Amino acid sequence: MSKSSTGSRLPRAKGIDMATFYSHKECAKKVKRIVLPSRNRQIVEEFITILGMKEKFEHYDVPIPNKVVMYGPPGTGKTLTAFYMAKRLELPLILVRLDAIIHSHLGETASNVRKIFDYAKASPCVLFLDEFDAIARTRENNDEVKEMSRVVNTLLQCLDEFEGESIFAAATNLEAELDNAIWRRFDTKMTYSLPDEVGRSEYISLLLDGFEHQEQVKQRASERLSGCSYADMEQIILKAKRKAIIEDSPLCPAHIDDAFAEYNPKSMS
Ligand SMILES: Nc1ncnc2c1ncn2[C@@H]1O[C@H](COP(=O)(O)OP(=O)(O)O)[C@@H](O)[C@H]1O
Ligand SMILES: [Mg+2]
Repeated sequence: MSKSSTGSRLPRAKGIDMATFYSHKECAKKVKRIVLPSRNRQIVEEFITILGMKEKFEHYDVPIPNKVVMYGPPGTGKTLTAFYMAKRLELPLILVRLDAIIHSHLGETASNVRKIFDYAKASPCVLFLDEFDAIARTRENNDEVKEMSRVVNTLLQCLDEFEGESIFAAATNLEAELDNAIWRRFDTKMTYSLPDEVGRSEYISLLLDGFEHQEQVKQRASERLSGCSYADMEQIILKAKRKAIIEDSPLCPAHIDDAFAEYNPKSMS
């Protein structure tokens, strides 16, 4: 996701060259085919509704939510959800590349964290930190304990001071490794899992939409792709479509079988 053909780097003058900027229109393009399980859809909808009722919440002195954490296995739509929220809120998405923050100059990690939060304070956006565990690991189990605890402290401070129009979103595959104090700072939490049968069917239909296919394909794909992540499903179906195109024939169950055998999805091994 971080290597995008559409997103552009923020100008260096703004002080952060470790993030990619996507306009809300670019975000909309990325989320044309998103499957959000009903629980998560509900959470996102409520979040957006609340942001549209700021004054009422101020009147009742109830803080509005602005920090979302998404956790679950890879390829299940965490990053995609961040794009979706940016689209819905008509805010740009700032995708922060954590490797750039952390590995470039260890001593500067904390100041980098501060810079990106300062940016988000000044310019309304969805500030998205992917692979968040890399920065928010529990203080004990890190090699550079001292340095990282300084980073975690900075992060805690930034989260506490985070206010205004921007939204902070973070995603992790390893929620167990997140620092407890950081975990508590999030007002909104979304769990992601591998697709169930309903999610699988919905996604297969979205992927096959507009592509000529035999009737049994959906059923076969749903059986075959059981246990795959959405990302794997997408790759396998793309592979199957390529086969159909080469043969100049409608997509058939054998294309799915062959594509599956060739792709050898990691999540199943
Ligand atoms: N819930 C989903 N709905 C639709 N497509 C998905 C979903 N999850 C993953 N994908 C596909 O897989 C790609 C990678 O997903 P991503 O959101 O980066 O997963 P994660 O952040 O959970 O690892 C997406 O760009 C999309 O093509
Ligand atoms: Mg991701």
